[in-house]
Amino acid sequence: MASHVIGPAADIPPGAHCVVKIRGADIGIFNVGGAYYALPNVCMHQFGPLCEGTVNGTTACNAATGWHFAWVREGEIVTCPWHGWEFDITTGQNLARPQIRLRSYPVTVEDGQIVLTLGGGGKEQRETSSTQNA
Ligand code: FES
Repeated sequence: MASHVIGPAADIPPGAHCVVKIRGADIGIFNVGGAYYALPNVCMHQFGPLCEGTVNGTTACNAATGWHFAWVREGEIVTCPWHGWEFDITTGQNLARPQIRLRSYPVTVEDGQIVLTLGGGGKEQRETSSTQNA
C-alpha cells in the first residue's frame, strides 16, 4: 500500500469534490458531510469520467418516503456526465444496478491533509450472482 497526500482538507469542504491524478490514474475525491471518499474516475457503463459529474441526490419511492417519489440523499450521489448512471459516493454502488460497485479507496485526514491510500483496502466488484454481498 502507498499513501498519497492530496492536499489540505480545507480545500475540499463538505459538498465539494475534485479529480486528482495518482500513479497515472484519475481518482475522484469527495467530501460528503465531512467524511472523505475516493472513487475511480471511470464509469463502469462506457468508461466515462464519472467523478467529473455532478454531485446531488436521487429520487426514491419506498417505505421511508411514504411510497411517494421524493428527493433523497442530497450530496451522496455522483451522476456520470455521459449517460447519467448514478453511484453512491459512500459505497461506490450503482443505484439502478446494485450488483455493480466501483472500487473505493481509503481516505483519511492527517494533520489537516487528505491522505489517499492505494494498493489495498479497496475492492472493485461487478457481481453477477445475487448470493454475493453488495
Ligand atoms: S459512461 Fe457513465 S453513464 Fe455511460
